[in-house]
Amino acid sequence: MSQIEEGQELGDEAGYLIYNEMLIDHFTHPRNVGEIENPDAMAVVGDPACGDYVRVYINVKNGKISDFKFLTQGCPGAISTSSIATELAIGKTLEEALMLTDNDVIHAAGGIPARKAHCSLLAIRGLHEAITTYQSSLPPSPQRG
Ligand code: FES
Repeated sequence: MSQIEEGQELGDEAGYLIYNEMLIDHFTHPRNVGEIENPDAMAVVGDPACGDYVRVYINVKNGKISDFKFLTQGCPGAISTSSIATELAIGKTLEEALMLTDNDVIHAAGGIPARKAHCSLLAIRGLHEAITTYQSSLPPSPQRG
């Protein structure tokens, strides 16, 4: 009989993962799934040809994320954390949204199995790329002086 080592995930030994209720809720009822027609910006993170990826769409109004939708090909961790990321980002200024990290998503989720922590990066990386694309599409601001 093997022993569970300190720091080992519960369920790891049996080869399954334990998701908390919030993650299960966001996996089974993901928020803000889908596409935005004519978005202000979009991004694709990951590789659609061979692995997990997320496609994100954003709209920006008055300097804030007014809408943020996603489509993903990934595991329950990717789906649930992408859903949580949309809720965290909508309503934030672009600067605030750029400061969001995968740790913020994991914290808002109430934790995620360690082996799935990387999945929480997908939507946040996509969001940051979409914001950068949006900002680079804006005309240069007039010089003050
Ligand atoms: Fe690849 Fe979660 S998205 S393991």
